Amino acid sequence: MDGDDWLTDTRTSYDTVAASYAEQMRDSLAEVPFLLSALGLFAESVRAAGGGLVADAGCGPGHVTAHLHKLGVDAFGLDLSPAMIEVARRDHPGLRFMVGSMTDLGLTDASLGALLAFWSLVHVPDDAIPTVFAEFRRVLRPGGPLLLGFHLGDGSRLKTQGYGGHPMNVYVHRRPAERMAAWLGEAGFVVESQMLLDLDKPYPGAILFARRDTV
Ligand SMILES: C[S@@+](CC[C@H](N)C(=O)[O-])C[C@H]1O[C@@H](n2cnc3c(N)ncnc32)[C@H](O)[C@@H]1O
Repeated sequence: MDGDDWLTDTRTSYDTVAASYAEQMRDSLAEVPFLLSALGLFAESVRAAGGGLVADAGCGPGHVTAHLHKLGVDAFGLDLSPAMIEVARRDHPGLRFMVGSMTDLGLTDASLGALLAFWSLVHVPDDAIPTVFAEFRRVLRPGGPLLLGFHLGDGSRLKTQGYGGHPMNVYVHRRPAERMAAWLGEAGFVVESQMLLDLDKPYPGAILFARRDTV
């Protein structure tokens, strides 16, 4: 795949599935106590680090942004797909959502208290990860918490349909937690903890708790 084609394909794919994705995910958090507990821990660490604005990068329909808000976190959502952002604004009218890319966040240096990226890095190719993590570090305050959720494993597959059989054209990348942690270390983050989920299922997950260095 050439250059930024993946961004165009990801945007178009999630524009196509935005409404059905929102429908499927609306109540999904309640079914996964480990995700809820990870978000609770994240909210605690945001508070302990002094609060501030928190980005949900690749927020999709905004259900995680809304959950963080309920936990007292000053969260806003950002997503590549304008249709996803439209759905997020419709479903959560009191919250802030913006169209944008993790590769170029368009936010001021050190303007965020914390950042979360839940299952959005799964579409970012390996060669773009250093750019994305450099952006995360640039916009975070020193010591700011970072929470990442992603598919655990190794290898990539092309997803050609999803969320009710709608056409998609996105690569889904699985990564070992150690590889993600190494990329984070190179970008100036310290990984503090990890949670592995659904190890007996076809799509296991990993959640990494990290923090921007204080340099
Ligand atoms: C699998 S969905 C996850 C959505 C939500 N975070 C969740 O946990 O349900 C992936 C989302 O990441 C977004 N995304 C992918 N690449 C992105 C990028 N470079 N910048 C911003 N959003 C991106 C997609 O548009 C899509 O909404």
